[in-house]
Amino acid sequence: MHVMNADTIAVCTPRIIPAKARDRVANKYRDDVVVGRYDTSRYNHFRGRLNNWAAWRALRQALSHVAPGGRLLDIPCGTGRFSWHFSRAGWQTTAVDCSEQMLAAARRAGAASEANAPAFAQGDVFRLPYPDRHFDVAVCVRLFNLLERDDRLAALRELARVSKTVVASYYHPYTLKSASRWIRYRLGLRHAPGRRLTMRALKEEIAASGLVPQRRLWVAPLFSEEWLVVFRHASAGPAGGATQP
Ligand SMILES: C[S@@+](CC[C@H](N)C(=O)[O-])C[C@H]1O[C@@H](n2cnc3c(N)ncnc32)[C@H](O)[C@@H]1O
Repeated sequence: MHVMNADTIAVCTPRIIPAKARDRVANKYRDDVVVGRYDTSRYNHFRGRLNNWAAWRALRQALSHVAPGGRLLDIPCGTGRFSWHFSRAGWQTTAVDCSEQMLAAARRAGAASEANAPAFAQGDVFRLPYPDRHFDVAVCVRLFNLLERDDRLAALRELARVSKTVVASYYHPYTLKSASRWIRYRLGLRHAPGRRLTMRALKEEIAASGLVPQRRLWVAPLFSEEWLVVFRHASAGPAGGATQP
């Protein structure tokens, strides 16, 4: 008979369990260096500002069904890229991120004394501490492109549990940048381009979610890799507007 003792355990356990992509993503943004250069490398230059402007314009359209004063969950809020825009536009904003470091930057992006400032909280998109349908809308920008399909679906379902509608961004390959990446890859000048969802893959994933897509918006055709998809619950019944995609 094999008897387990402390020595046996010491021999058996030095097994490295690879972190799941979702854990790697969560941990990456707890690094002070990553957080310190987050805005500078992504948004604090001409192209970044243009992208922010286009994304904000698309978000306003995607949120046209949420009345002023409505409860909005911004997750992950990151460094507060949109949190303060949401609150200044009149929505009661709760901004959540799993990283305390990103949250600290988000808090600094505005003044807590501002009327209707967002409420910031640490939280995990896979286990949110809010009751069912608490929010009018949950907004999730630039997270799904970092997750595997199963985790995207799990996160989407949790967002849909706590809110009446969801606006989520997905990354697609229909841009000039993707075309250039693909050509350089074929010429052996770069590594394989990252995964992006084709229209067909997006439709399949949406069907698997059990939610109803209300609208799909291009942030900036040919230039931005982002689509915004507006979801509602199937049980909410038909709510104005053609269903797309
Ligand atoms: C690429 S940033 C996007 C932030 C922001 N939405 C934006 O557009 O700049 C990804 C964010 O997701 C957060 N995050 C990663 N995993 C998370 C999780 N499980 N729950 C909540 N936030 C998470 C990270 O801390 C990081 O702030």
